[in-house]
Amino acid sequence: MALLPILTAPDPRLKKKSRPVGAVDDKVRRLMDDMLETMYAAPGIGLAAPQVGVLKRVIVLDVSDKDGPPAPHALADPEVVWVSDHDNTHEEGCLSVPEHYADVVRPAEVRVRYLDRENEVHELEADGLLATCVQHEIDHLDGILFIDHISALKRNMILRKLLKEKKLAAKEAVPA
Ligand code: NI
Repeated sequence: MALLPILTAPDPRLKKKSRPVGAVDDKVRRLMDDMLETMYAAPGIGLAAPQVGVLKRVIVLDVSDKDGPPAPHALADPEVVWVSDHDNTHEEGCLSVPEHYADVVRPAEVRVRYLDRENEVHELEADGLLATCVQHEIDHLDGILFIDHISALKRNMILRKLLKEKKLAAKEAVPA
């Protein structure tokens, strides 16, 4: 397994649409394992392949309690097949939008069809934090960040700050 570098916004690769994997083979399984390791190390509760620069429809998540046993999920080609009529507001963050958080409104419950690690079709029924997280990660596969769900004013403010930090970090990386 390997830790993968996580891209941060603004980055054009985070705005691209990812391609379906079609079938889960050893290569996809390795990607799932590396993504889970990277997510736990970050630490985060979800990660999508484009966040590590791989434009494939693969996401991983674990919203279990910190003190309880881990509950990793790895989903390939996830597809939302049903959403509830009622919404939920959750404060969201993202490993690709470090240090920034905002309230996002999404359907409170969803059903997601996907291929698991063994290439078998499953459906995941999610509510609460899991519903928020799985929708957030699927958004990544379509080039959508949680800040795309908030006002343009707030989004641009966050992106400007992130860009400034990137420029500063690049400057510091240059040897004197
Ligand atoms: Ni994210």
